[in-house]
Amino acid sequence: MKISNNPLLFAVWMLSMVSGALSCDRCLYKSKVASFARANINGACGYGNSATSLTARGGLVMASASAKIYREGVGCGACYQMRCTDPGVCTKSGVKVLVTDFTKSTQTDFVLSAPSFTKLAVASKAAQFLKMGTVDVDYKRIPCDYGSQNMTVKVDKSSKYPDYLAVQFLYQGGQTDITAVDINRAGSSGWQYMTRKNGAIWGIQNPPIGSLSFRLLVTGGYDGSWVWPTRNLLPAIWRPGSVYDSGVQITEIAQEGCSTCETGNWTDTRTR
Ligand SMILES: *[C@@H]1O[C@H](CO)[C@@H](O)[C@H](O)[C@H]1NC(C)=O
Ligand SMILES: *[C@@H]1O[C@H](CO)[C@@H](O)[C@H](O)[C@H]1NC(C)=O
Repeated sequence: MKISNNPLLFAVWMLSMVSGALSCDRCLYKSKVASFARANINGACGYGNSATSLTARGGLVMASASAKIYREGVGCGACYQMRCTDPGVCTKSGVKVLVTDFTKSTQTDFVLSAPSFTKLAVASKAAQFLKMGTVDVDYKRIPCDYGSQNMTVKVDKSSKYPDYLAVQFLYQGGQTDITAVDINRAGSSGWQYMTRKNGAIWGIQNPPIGSLSFRLLVTGGYDGSWVWPTRNLLPAIWRPGSVYDSGVQITEIAQEGCSTCETGNWTDTRTR
C-alpha cells in the first residue's frame, strides 16, 4: 500500500519499492525496555513543555529512544506501541509512547520514566515489576493520532526575529518522518530549505521577509510525499514561543520492509 493521495498533499513518490523484503504497515520488533527515575520532559527532541500537551492529546507517554530509533532527531515525534512479554504480569495493550528524547543505551531501544514503565504491568504486579528495571518487550511503530487536532508549527525560543528562524512541528500525525522542510515568502515560487538543528527543531538563517509558508517532505520505509499546507503558516512578524495552526494533519502510513509484520493480536488490542 502506498501513502494515500490526500488532496492536501502534493504527492511526489520519491522512493521506489525494493523487492525481496516483506512489506508491511508495521514491523514487529523484539527488544528490551528500561525504566529510569527521571521524567524526560526536556528531552533531546526539544519539545520542552509542549511534550506534555502532545502526550496528553495522543494518549501517549514520553520515551527516550536509542540511536537506532532516534536517528539523529528524525525519529522525534514518532509513536510506538510496546508491551512486555510475561503474560502473568503484562497488560495486553502495553503503552503507546512518543519519542521525545535520546538515550545512549545500547542494551534497550527505549527508556521510560518509572510511572510509564509501570503501566506495562497489571496494577497488582506494578511494584514488583518496577524492581525488575529492564524487561523484554515486543514493539511496533504506530500512527500518532491526535484526533481532530491539526499539526501546528511552533516558533522555537532560539529564534531571533528577523535574522534567525527555528521551528518545530507539533502534533505530527501519521506514521512517517519529517525529512525535509522548505520555507518561502507567501506567494513567491522560490523555496529555501531549512536544516535540522537538533531533535525536532528546524532552522534557517536570514529567513524570507513577509508572511511565510512551508512544505514538508514526509517519508517512511519505501514511501514519501510532500505535505503542503494550503495556508500561510507564519505572519510577517513571528514571535519566538508562538504556535500557529497548520490547517492540515498527516495521516499517512508508510510501508516498511519487515522481517516480521505485526500480528493480528496487536490489532485487537490497539484501542484500550
Ligand atoms: C484544522 O484545520 C482546518 C482546515 O484549515 C480547520 O477548518 C479546522 O478548524 C482546524 N481544526 C482545529 C481543531 O483547529
Ligand atoms: C494471539 O492470541 C491468542 C489468544 O490470546 C494466542 O493463542 C496466540 O498465540 C497469539 N498469537 C500470536 C502470534 O501472538
